[in-house]
Parts: sequence; structure tokens; C-alpha cells
Amino acid sequence: MRRLMVAGNWKMNGSRQMAAEHVPGYMTVAGDCTSEILVCPPFCLLADVEAYCRDSDLVLGGQDLAREADGAFTGEVSGAMLVDVGCSYVIVGHSERRTLFGESNDVVSEKVVLALECGLTPLICVGETLEQREREETGQVISAQLDAVESCIGIEGFGNTVLAYEPVWAIGTGMTATPAQAQSVHEFIRGRLAQKDRAVADRVRILYGGSVKPGNAAELFAQVDIDGGLIGGASLNPDDFVSICRAAG
Ligand code: PGA
Repeated sequence: MRRLMVAGNWKMNGSRQMAAEHVPGYMTVAGDCTSEILVCPPFCLLADVEAYCRDSDLVLGGQDLAREADGAFTGEVSGAMLVDVGCSYVIVGHSERRTLFGESNDVVSEKVVLALECGLTPLICVGETLEQREREETGQVISAQLDAVESCIGIEGFGNTVLAYEPVWAIGTGMTATPAQAQSVHEFIRGRLAQKDRAVADRVRILYGGSVKPGNAAELFAQVDIDGGLIGGASLNPDDFVSICRAAG
């Protein structure tokens, strides 16, 4: 049985005040739920959030990490720094990083390696754009994204990761994939891993992300291959986020 996960990605939103107001409620729901609840605030709020959630079941993650381990890279934050501030996870390859900041499959794969090397669990995002879906290239695009990572960490390496299927067309648009659409891609991803290593495929959690809301979370999470959600916009509203966590159980 895979333990479901709900991860909140605040993106470039929030403040110290918001952390003070929201995090206690997240800690309560994390304690009540059997699912794992993860919060990924911006870098500058990690220390605040860590201080609140230190002795709770709420876990902390970064939204990205540098491509290098350390050195003269102004503005960057390394995996080791994330570990130092109390993170156990880091989002890698979010579609906003891929499209707005030009992160290729190779860059994403390098970051996955760096995350694993410093003991972080990478939450690796994959997904197709609307044009790619319309051209029926979803499988191809996701396969290339997964293959690039596999070439760096091997199939067994996926056992130390969490995957997130995030159709780019559903992120922040209010256009959620239907549970059936999402399930079919999740099944494809798991099937692809299973061709090489059934045990790893059965173990790896695959979250769905893209306009998950309190009203659609339960049905999405009920799909056999959907192991929780990566939540953007709705993670900024504490009532919505808590209700999505409860939908995961
Ligand atoms: P959204 O974002 O929930 O606002 O669609 C999801 C994500 O980008 O992870």
C-alpha cells in the first residue's frame, strides 16, 4: 500500500505572517491524516515554517534546488542548504521551471541526482502541454522526461523519488484533468516503470497536480494509480488545503 501524499506548493506567494497563520492548521491536519502532508514555501520562509512544524507530522520541502552543489552561483540555493534548514523533499522540474526558466530534461535530471546525493527526496514533475496533448504526444513527452531521469539514476533510483503528473494545461487554469484522464496517464507512467522494475513501479507514489480543489480532490485521489496531489493555488487558502488533505485520508 502506498501512503498518499498531499503537497502544497506556495510558488512565489506568501509571507512570514501567512506562515504564522496557516502552518498551525496544516500541522493539525498532518497529525490527523494517514496521508503525508508536505508544504513547500519559498526559500525565504523555510526557516520560519520549519520552526513551527519541527515537532509535528508536517514535512517541509523546497520548490527547486541549484544545479551545483556549492560555490559562486549568486542567487542559487543548494540541496545541502535545503537539508540544513530542515527540508526532506524538493520539487524538481516543475513545469514553470521548465517553461519559464528553460530547464531541459537534462537539467532536471542533474538536479534529481544532486537532490538524492544530499538525502532529499525529489518530487519530480512531468507533464505535457495542451499542444502536445492535442497532437497525441502525451506518452512520448512523459517518456522522454522519465527516460532522461532514468539515464542518471537508473530504474531503481525511482524508488527514492515521488513523481507528479502535472498536465501543463491544467496548472493554475481551473481546467482539471478528469479523474479518468489523469488515471490513464498515471497508469501509463506506472506501467512504463513496471516494464523495467515491477517492485519500484508498485512502490513509487505518483501525485496528480493541476487545479486540484476541495470539490475534485476525493474523486482524483480515489483512482488506483493516483497517490495524492501537488497543490498550487488551493494551498494558499488554508480551508481549501486542509479539506484537500482530508480528502486524501
Ligand atoms: P495549481 O498548481 O494547483 O494552481 O493548478 C499546481 C502546481 O503547479 O503544482
